[in-house]
Amino acid sequence: MPRIDWNEKFSLSIREIDDQHKRWIGIMNELHDALMNGEGPDTFEKTLESLSEYTHYHFAHEEAFMKKINYEAFHDHRRLHDAFKNEIFSLQNEFLSGNVILHSQVMSRLQNWLRDHILIEDRKFADFYHHSD
Ligand SMILES: [Fe+2]
Ligand SMILES: [Fe+2]
Repeated sequence: MPRIDWNEKFSLSIREIDDQHKRWIGIMNELHDALMNGEGPDTFEKTLESLSEYTHYHFAHEEAFMKKINYEAFHDHRRLHDAFKNEIFSLQNEFLSGNVILHSQVMSRLQNWLRDHILIEDRKFADFYHHSD
């Protein structure tokens, strides 16, 4: 299972959001590497916590941006964010309760979600933004 490499196709041409996506992908790759290198539970716990924190930070920023530009599908987009936050939250809980469930299937689901979300869903509000002026 490969890492996610940031490349131009991820770019939404919105500087601060692109920068956040790079950082977000970076943390996802840290989690990926921890899994691949067989790191212990402390590393997972810390990295999952970073992923959770950064996800909340990024979503809040993005939601404020979508509101500012009066994005028509804001509510649908926020629902997708909420679902992902819940997924990470339950992952953390399961991990903390000792059910070590972070295997490659979970990892690739997280990676796919993140990749598709940027390429498909975030792209929609970016297109809306670039065509609204
Ligand atoms: Fe995003
Ligand atoms: Fe988003």
